[in-house]
Amino acid sequence: MSNIEQTLSIIKPDAVERNLQDQIKQEFINKGFEIIKEKKIHISKEDAEKFYKVHNSKPFYNDLCDYLSSGPIVVMTLQRESAVMENRKLMGATNPIDAEEGTLRKKYGISIDKNSVHGSDSLENARIELDFFFKN
Ligand code: CDP
Ligand code: MG
Repeated sequence: MSNIEQTLSIIKPDAVERNLQDQIKQEFINKGFEIIKEKKIHISKEDAEKFYKVHNSKPFYNDLCDYLSSGPIVVMTLQRESAVMENRKLMGATNPIDAEEGTLRKKYGISIDKNSVHGSDSLENARIELDFFFKN
């Protein structure tokens, strides 16, 4: 039975700044993801606050929103079987120090805030996050 899903991936400012976007995109393709949509954008702090509003009570919220709006990002619709979970596996743990060998955050992440990639954490949030960036 096939279970094709779409999920949102973001290549965060630290990775775009180091010009890692093509390398990271190739990692997704190597793992069987299809990049259905893609755009490079620089969002405002207000949009970052809306995107991360689930975290608005966290101590790191303000820095997180400053950071996501600090430079260009690449947002993508990724598609494959079990895309949400497979993307989370490929990304690795939030803190690169804890991420397993071979994961994107282990390979490219600098710190817990500059951890190179975002990925939706559930199918429901994937739909919300994809709408946020790609709904016309
Ligand atoms: O991105 P992920 O779903 O793995 O983690 P999260 O708990 O949803 O947190 C969102 C983002 O906030 C993380 O990717 C980190 O960049 C940042 N964060 C942080 O700066 N400091 C923390 N203590 C936790 C998260
Ligand atoms: Mg999250």
